[in-house]
Amino acid sequence: MAAVVCTLRHRNTRNRAAAMLERMEKQNRIFSGFDADAIDRTTAADLAEVGSDKWTRYPGCIGAFIAEMDYGLAPCIQQAIDSACDHCKLGYIPEPWKRRVAEACAGWQKSHYGWDVDPDIIRVVPDVLEAYEIFLRELVGAGNAVVVPTPAYMPFLSVPKLYDVDVIEIEMLQGTDETTGEREWLFDFNAIERAFAAGCHAFVLCNPHNPIGKVLTLAEEQRLCELAERYDVRIFNDEIHAPFVFEGRHIPYPTISKAAARQSMTATSASKSFNIPGTKCAQVLLTNPADREMWAERAEWSEHQTATIGAIATTTAYNEGDPWFQDALSYVRRNLGLFDKQMRTRFSGVGYIRPRGTYIAWLDFGPLGIDDPAAYFLEKAKVALTDGRSCGRAGAGCVRVNMAMPYPLLVDCLNRMHDALQADGLL
Ligand SMILES: Cc1ncc(COP(=O)(O)O)c(C=O)c1O
Repeated sequence: MAAVVCTLRHRNTRNRAAAMLERMEKQNRIFSGFDADAIDRTTAADLAEVGSDKWTRYPGCIGAFIAEMDYGLAPCIQQAIDSACDHCKLGYIPEPWKRRVAEACAGWQKSHYGWDVDPDIIRVVPDVLEAYEIFLRELVGAGNAVVVPTPAYMPFLSVPKLYDVDVIEIEMLQGTDETTGEREWLFDFNAIERAFAAGCHAFVLCNPHNPIGKVLTLAEEQRLCELAERYDVRIFNDEIHAPFVFEGRHIPYPTISKAAARQSMTATSASKSFNIPGTKCAQVLLTNPADREMWAERAEWSEHQTATIGAIATTTAYNEGDPWFQDALSYVRRNLGLFDKQMRTRFSGVGYIRPRGTYIAWLDFGPLGIDDPAAYFLEKAKVALTDGRSCGRAGAGCVRVNMAMPYPLLVDCLNRMHDALQADGLL
């Protein structure tokens, strides 16, 4: 059984970590516990045995749809969870743990993005989507609308309906960077302004952007801020993928100006970077003082639903997990390199813009005449992808691919997709 499976079984993890520590000490390298060799050896059967949604929902298929990484747990998080269980720390979340999460989150923001944020403005929630629900319920309100650039992370489109909030989908544009000649995604600021001018006062910003991997530039953030200021717009700012930036740098939106800080309710989490979404502890950064009053009156119940085990895992991740994360990031970067190369060579007819961040890619099979590529690849290649249509009208003929899997499985995944297309004479 491949070693990454063992990372989910704590005793084996300790043995593996000890062996790896010894190996790395011999090589004079810093020990992070991220074992790329073991991950490379992990098979689809191993991952199915672990039992994640990604590898069990479509038996016998390569799971590339849900946004999880297949790299096990950072040993420091594993140890923190073990110790919490040993000491029976599984009650309702106590105030000191909320504070520890806030301080650890602030520390990560400062060290990774230079944002010197006061822990006093950071709150905990079970997950980022809970924060989105609070935004829709308390700041947008029933009968109003929210602008969502598309393709979008699926719940940004489906959740507003639960609060009687209309979604105004605005398709992203594609252009060419004048200096590099590379294709890039661009906001349709004219259409966004028209929606604001027509009375919409809410916007969803996802940066880095799932599913297209766009990383906003300072100029883009400034343009958005100007428009939001002119039309009195509140912004739900999802920065959950911030640690995954391969080109440029992540600029937290609230840091660009006082206006941006006032406009935004920011949500983030260690859940993507450390693969702990099931531990249920995200963070909300309330840079608008009025939101803090609203929160005290109307959102405290969400804090209470946050998991203590998640607070423990998250605090450890932010405080101690960076060496593991950096190794995970290098692994994802290698996967992205492979993916990018193959898209430019073997899949050259497919619509594709290189993701600058996240571990997700967006592929348009419209040029090959495939209407429903998710169903096509599930049936013909046994690869499970996200149907682009769930990411908005812009997603017809497209799929979302998660490339954070073992490298050899990504090779297999791409081969299967390629072979299916070739067998049908589409490449
Ligand atoms: C952009 C984005 N936001 C939020 C989430 C969900 O985060 P959470 O599990 O904290 O709700 C995801 C998960 O894939 C995501 O990609």
